[in-house]
Amino acid sequence: MAKPSSKPTASASDVDADRRKFLVGTTAAVGAVGAACCAVPFVGSMAPSRDVAAQATVDINLSEIPEGEAKTYLWQGKPVFVWHRNAAQIAAAKAGDTTSTMDPEPDAKRVQKPEWLVVLGICTHLGCVPIRNDEVGGWRCPCHGSQFDVSGRVIHGPAGTNLHIPPYTFVDDNTLRIG
Ligand code: FES
Repeated sequence: MAKPSSKPTASASDVDADRRKFLVGTTAAVGAVGAACCAVPFVGSMAPSRDVAAQATVDINLSEIPEGEAKTYLWQGKPVFVWHRNAAQIAAAKAGDTTSTMDPEPDAKRVQKPEWLVVLGICTHLGCVPIRNDEVGGWRCPCHGSQFDVSGRVIHGPAGTNLHIPPYTFVDDNTLRIG
């Protein structure tokens, strides 16, 4: 005759609860691993590539810009005008502080050194690239005729604001870093 077991038998609800715990734990672990696997390449894709990082700043050799002339450089896909202003142009920029521009701003606030004007070459009306024009003293936009003076301040609309100034620093006497 068989001896009755002394161990208590688990009820159906105890078994279901254990199974549920196991399944929840396993699913959470698999989900966490899956999320991590997806996140790594995604986050990696958000990091700038070397090319993009290289364009984040642009170093300009200032000796390649003769006094009195402006040159255009590309920074983060945008044109930047760097103008090596001579004494007459600096004087004209200062004189412009007191004449009426549409967006008044002293020249001294727009430059770090009077002989170097650095502005984004993007018209503040609708984004065309203005062209140097000695008749207006600075640039004229070919799209709708806005004009900017020797400090990049708007003197004739339809643009209503001055040419923007990008972040820049003088690394040394001969090197300008944009960005
Ligand atoms: S985009 Fe320059 S005047 Fe319109």
